[in-house]
Amino acid sequence: MSAGAGVFQAPAAPAEFALSQADFREIAAMLHEDAGIHLAGSKASLVYARLARRLRALGLSSFRDYCALVKDRKGLDERQRMLAALTTNVTGFFREPHHFAHLERVVLPPLLEAAGRGARVRLWSAGCSSGPEAYSMAMAVLSLRPDAARLDVRILATDVDPDVIGQAREGVYDERAAAGLSAPLRERWTKPTPSPKGAARRLRVADEPRALISFRELNLNAAWPMKGPFQAIFCRNVAIYFEEQTQMALWSRFPSMLAPGGRLYIGHSERLNGPAARAFVAEGVTHYRLAGRSGA
Ligand SMILES: C[S@@+](CC[C@H](N)C(=O)[O-])C[C@H]1O[C@@H](n2cnc3c(N)ncnc32)[C@H](O)[C@@H]1O
Repeated sequence: MSAGAGVFQAPAAPAEFALSQADFREIAAMLHEDAGIHLAGSKASLVYARLARRLRALGLSSFRDYCALVKDRKGLDERQRMLAALTTNVTGFFREPHHFAHLERVVLPPLLEAAGRGARVRLWSAGCSSGPEAYSMAMAVLSLRPDAARLDVRILATDVDPDVIGQAREGVYDERAAAGLSAPLRERWTKPTPSPKGAARRLRVADEPRALISFRELNLNAAWPMKGPFQAIFCRNVAIYFEEQTQMALWSRFPSMLAPGGRLYIGHSERLNGPAARAFVAEGVTHYRLAGRSGA
């Protein structure tokens, strides 16, 4: 299906800004081009709700003007913001906990033992949102090797959205965002931090997990500057928003980024499809080991 296809349902009138079917189609086509995300016509209200604040912030009076801006070379930064506003950033600590149990019990022990003898260990949180996934990986590492920062063990965490990368680097979460952290993990790896008056209590991730992670901006559908290899890649709840072709293209790039026997973890409602699926052996419903020579 092409971007923006399906029945266009205009946002309920009276709206502050008019969003015509042509504007919607242009926005949907740009989202498709940049991120491979398909936007059905029924999502016009969502587009309106997420972008109206951008129009206000920029002092624009119509979606027509907004489309003209983001299609222009001068609007590249705003186009990135548009992409970020239209993708969803829901995440949490130890989300889909069986992946972290597998990482901690099966994957990390031999890798960290080898790291103790000087081996290099690299993990990647691809589509990390505001950071809880990468911090959960770091906490899993530290629970086995509290001295991991002194070894050659590092986690790369990337996302297309510069705002969430900023939040991830800050590493400050309110109670709701930190709900997935057990009491012992909170006690060990976070510190209370001052909250604005009247706001919920906030926690700051401690220095030890932070020291293991590099947060970077990266569009998974563009060129990747890093070479790897990674021993484990978490790319969860990201490809779900992509069209099948784009999903398959993404999956097919992971095998060459993984070390022999490397692991790939995907989201609970995602499935490996296309030729890349043959490169992997399923170890669980949504986690895979690179076929061929065994690693960990
Ligand atoms: C629902 S969150 C998932 C976060 C985390 N992986 C998890 O499962 O909890 C999806 C993230 O994917 C990011 N994303 C969407 N399209 C992307 C792309 N083309 N390249 C990189 N990140 C992308 C979004 O910005 C968002 O932060």
